[in-house]
Amino acid sequence: NITPVILSGGSGTRLWPLSREAYPKQFLPLAGEATMLQATWQRVAAIAARGPLVIANETHRFVAADQLQQVGAQPQAIILEPVGRNTAPAIAVAALEATRDGADPLLLVLPSDHVIADEAAFHASVRQAAAAADAGKLVTFGIVPTGPETGYGYIKAAPGEGARAVERFVEKPDLATATDYVASGQYLWNSGMFLFRASRYLQELARFNPAMLERSRAAWEGARRDADFTRLDTEAFAAVPSDSIDYAVMEKTADAVVVALDAGWNDVGSWTALRDVSTQDGDGNAHHGDVIAIDCRNTYAYGERLVALVGLDDVIVVETDDAVLVGNADRMQEVKDVVARLKAEG
Ligand code: GDD
Ligand code: MG
Repeated sequence: NITPVILSGGSGTRLWPLSREAYPKQFLPLAGEATMLQATWQRVAAIAARGPLVIANETHRFVAADQLQQVGAQPQAIILEPVGRNTAPAIAVAALEATRDGADPLLLVLPSDHVIADEAAFHASVRQAAAAADAGKLVTFGIVPTGPETGYGYIKAAPGEGARAVERFVEKPDLATATDYVASGQYLWNSGMFLFRASRYLQELARFNPAMLERSRAAWEGARRDADFTRLDTEAFAAVPSDSIDYAVMEKTADAVVVALDAGWNDVGSWTALRDVSTQDGDGNAHHGDVIAIDCRNTYAYGERLVALVGLDDVIVVETDDAVLVGNADRMQEVKDVVARLKAEG
């Protein structure tokens, strides 16, 4: 009895200049034929009891609806946020919607911007998680870390097999802390996907952030519904405090468990991550579009026009109609600073 909840409201600024406000990365076909949103649905269609609940910004309503329709997703609702309030309120509204008719399904919360290479392994982890979620746990999916990434949540799991108790959940630690965690061998990354009963999430949110729940509820109760969309009340939703599920609930709950996920997961959070999930030549170069690389290693180039690279190591080049990005592969997290600068300069 699994209802997928697809979070599709992020702005994907680290994939500038391709990912733009009008067209953020979840709506782009970054890793294959389907867009990231479409691939997210396709990956779970076989294990979903019903169509997904999709939560997106209202400016993206048509692209979201069209893309879902193209892959036959038949959403239970496309919930539209007038403004982004991060993931904790988005999931609250989805949980309210899911329990509207007295039902209480398991919600499989899915970011819309991940790549998972091994679908069968992913389904197996979800099945393991479902037993724990049925018993009232809030399940996260844990990934064995490959380095001290500071953009992830870190989970310390109790020893054992299957669904293991979370001893500690630390969202986005600083580099020194992340380095210690990885060296200890005791921590997993939080994949950002979750499974829990809708009512359990609402209970935990009521406990840790009652104001967020009550304001989210007001926005949801005031929603206008038409054939395709559930439009949250603008003023009420603007008054909801902004926070992620990781800080608002997962760091705090005593009922978190983690199930290991070994399925070729990647969150495609940066151009470097995209290079790493793309098909590479023998020297580790991955290219999209018309690209010539001579004597290069570990480069990634995305070109709408012809792009030629000579003698480069670990360099990313992204060329679009109106902007060019050139940078070191190790520094691609900082692309969001470019976007911040552009915004500040208007
Ligand atoms: N509807 C909606 N509204 N969706 C949102 C919003 C919002 O306001 N903000 C973010 N999202 C969506 C994004 O589009 C993305 O699919 C997902 O929620 C997660 O948001 P991110 O902003 O990408 O989170 P993160 O990458 O910083 O951190 C999360 O993911 C990591 C793994 O990729 C956390 O869960 C970390 O703990 C985790 O390690
Ligand atoms: Mg992310």
